[in-house]
Amino acid sequence: MPSKTVLITGANGEIGHGLINFFAQDGSHKIIALDIHDIDDTLTDKCSFIKGSVLDEALLEHIFEKYSFEYVFHLAGILSTGGEKNPLFAHQVNVTGSLNLLNFTRLAAKKREEKITFLFPSSIAAYGIPTLEQKKKAGKISEEQYLFPITMYGCNKLYIEHMGRYFEAFYGLLEPHRDTYPLIDFRSIRFPGIISAETIPTGGTSDYGPEMVHSAAQGKSYSCFVRQDTTLPFVVMPEAVDALIKLSEAKKSQLTRQVYNITSFSVSASQIAGEVKKYFPQASISYSIDPNRQKIVDSWPGDVDDTKARSDWGWKPRYSFESAFAEYLMPAVIERYRCSSLKKCQNSS
Ligand SMILES: NC(=O)c1ccc[n+]([C@@H]2O[C@H](COP(=O)([O-])OP(=O)(O)OC[C@H]3O[C@@H](n4cnc5c(N)ncnc54)[C@H](O)[C@@H]3O)[C@@H](O)[C@H]2O)c1
Repeated sequence: MPSKTVLITGANGEIGHGLINFFAQDGSHKIIALDIHDIDDTLTDKCSFIKGSVLDEALLEHIFEKYSFEYVFHLAGILSTGGEKNPLFAHQVNVTGSLNLLNFTRLAAKKREEKITFLFPSSIAAYGIPTLEQKKKAGKISEEQYLFPITMYGCNKLYIEHMGRYFEAFYGLLEPHRDTYPLIDFRSIRFPGIISAETIPTGGTSDYGPEMVHSAAQGKSYSCFVRQDTTLPFVVMPEAVDALIKLSEAKKSQLTRQVYNITSFSVSASQIAGEVKKYFPQASISYSIDPNRQKIVDSWPGDVDDTKARSDWGWKPRYSFESAFAEYLMPAVIERYRCSSLKKCQNSS
């Protein structure tokens, strides 16, 4: 019987899939999953699903009254590309929605007289490097550098990181008896691009990496929206899920900060294309640059310094660039698209 209860918002998204599958297999957590869209058939048996919005305060109040959560994984959000198409809407979901979750978690912790651990996936979009030249010179960026995001999404992520810090340590400093009850335990990872074999991304600006992989596996040609030399750090989905779980389980006394960088490998778009072509030699990958999406990616670091995550809670990438393709991505995408052999995939391109 599960002994702990976890709330996952944005549960039908890419990371939500990975987390639900992890917790369902692990068996130790009852999973309450919230999403504004219906959840995939593959997940329905693995969680209790509630369809609704993080902007619906009455619904959140009901959920927090009904269940007693040990962990909240707040994944719901509008990503960078979607956010720039409708910035004020993104602000509403990413900021007001997150404040709602932080506040209901705080109220539940106060009522239960016990801290609740709140996990927030932030992003390298929280960074903003002014020029490409500086990006090249900067090398690995630490958590404190270049915090001048140029997207609504990045601004929202950075602000919610600060709100997490505030809700954990300073909320309502002048409220009477403020220090007599516990608040939340806020922990966050600034994720780089995430490549998943199981799900296809929508709405992010690092999506060209996974899109190349999925297009090639389906025998579809792909037009990449950034320059060949565009470089970003990446992790693959199992590592992203591992990292969230590992950070959630770390002893608080080990943590020296609330927000951590992680990365596995930093590669250019042309390196990803080259690796894809090793497995799908006939893959057709061309480049048609979207100047605005390019501008966004150029402002994000080419690499991040994840020393603190390594030393504080034992983050360690599971894969190199090559082994991520060989051991995870390629076997899983080939299985996903039911290509019985590489040849079949290649022939269909
Ligand atoms: N995937 C990445 O590369 C990446 C990188 C860095 C950070 N992140 C962050 O991780 C989180 C999850 O990312 P993902 O890749 O799974 O994104 P995703 O877009 O696949 O999933 C987001 C989910 O949120 C849901 N959602 C949107 N608005 C909602 C609302 N008002 N109420 C409830 N649910 C709502 C969507 O239906 C979707 O299922 C996001 O906060 C994202 O910013 C992702």
